[in-house]
Amino acid sequence: MTPQPGKRDLFTTRFGAIATTVGSAVGLGNIWRFPYEAGTNGGGAFMLCYIVFIFLLGVPVICAEFTLGRSSRSNYFGAMRHHSRSRFWPLAGYIGILASLMILSFYSVVAGWTVEYTVQSATGALDFSDTGSYHDHFDTFVTGNWRPAMWTLIFLALNFGILMRGVSKGIERFSNILMPVLFLLLIVFCINSLTMDGAREGLTFLFRPDFAALTPATMLSALGQAFFSLSLGLGCMLTYSSYFSTGTRLGRSALTTAMLDTVVALLAGVIIFPAVFTYGMSPSAGPTLVFEVLPSIFHHLPGGVVWSTFFFFLLFLASLTSTISMSEISIAFFTEQLKIRRKSAVILNTAIAAVFGTLCALSFGCLDDLRLFGMTIFNLFDYTTSNIMLPFGGMIISLFVGWRLKRSVLVEEMTCYGTTPFRVMGLLIFLLRWVCPLGIALIFLNSIGII
Ligand code: PFF
Repeated sequence: MTPQPGKRDLFTTRFGAIATTVGSAVGLGNIWRFPYEAGTNGGGAFMLCYIVFIFLLGVPVICAEFTLGRSSRSNYFGAMRHHSRSRFWPLAGYIGILASLMILSFYSVVAGWTVEYTVQSATGALDFSDTGSYHDHFDTFVTGNWRPAMWTLIFLALNFGILMRGVSKGIERFSNILMPVLFLLLIVFCINSLTMDGAREGLTFLFRPDFAALTPATMLSALGQAFFSLSLGLGCMLTYSSYFSTGTRLGRSALTTAMLDTVVALLAGVIIFPAVFTYGMSPSAGPTLVFEVLPSIFHHLPGGVVWSTFFFFLLFLASLTSTISMSEISIAFFTEQLKIRRKSAVILNTAIAAVFGTLCALSFGCLDDLRLFGMTIFNLFDYTTSNIMLPFGGMIISLFVGWRLKRSVLVEEMTCYGTTPFRVMGLLIFLLRWVCPLGIALIFLNSIGII
């Protein structure tokens, strides 16, 4: 049976559906988070785990989210309810909503940094001849309290403006044009980095696994990064796929999204690490890494100011396509489950993120001493969402689709209601039933020292 979209606002083209999904996946996770996580977790060993987790655990979970979203035409919570009478499964929806609001809060801070750097590049304030100055400059900005907080709020206001305009009009137009431009720019910078003196050292760091660095903590970080980067485990892909038309091929879309997302992360790594070794910086600088290395790269390019302005601007737009997607998770829940009007739901979503986003922004400055479990608020939100909540959500989704959902629903969705072949159904079911839940559980248990 083909589900009836009813009054839901569907993506108008199939390309739009893919571009928007990729737009959600590609963002600061690839260009800011991937290099800093790879840098602090030993490079090659992290990279190896990351790639294995993307394809072995990530792709099946995307298929599962797509199946739930399109078959129910509903949000995470509604989808679980649609397919099960049990009270237990929909609870996972609450974790997804909480995670989406927490991510929106700290993500907006980093997106705010991209706005600051766009403005600074354009005004020529971001151009120093010695590399150390980029570190000091970023440090002064980020510890300065009011500017980071102001940009976080301005960014959230822009996000709010776009959300008010609805799904297809607001998002589709943006993603279709700008993602390919960002991609081209990354390729240009990648070629530039490959000609640097430290290229060999950088690539060795990123691609040659040092198995001594393959610790349980590295594996957990790689798992978290894979889920974060694919916007997975919190119902984001599920919510987006509820707007897919019935002809969108789910398996192919899942694989395309995973591949493009991985390529962008790899490009970012190939841009950053040769430069890190060329300019004698430390790969393990943490969340500030990219904001210190990229301006140094641009400084050495002819017309660096223009590249820099353009790049940070595109990075800001890539962040917007991701924050819009994560906002839609709670907005869909507020409107469809709590029956709140869309306008009020958007206001609620923005208000929550504004409060917690400000706290995250200040956690590099006046709230630096406020530690919970030894982490600042920013780090706590970043760590717990990526490394715990998203993989846990992924485990629940794979268990639900693997064991609880009627097989016929999975078959219908993956074959577009019997109109296209899907040859790896047996493999997908095996991965969802066994490999994803057990793999994630083992990585969790391993990281807390139980195995
Ligand atoms: N995948 C996005 C990125 O890599 O930047 C981040 C993200 C978007 C996470 C949407 C979660 C989400 F729901």
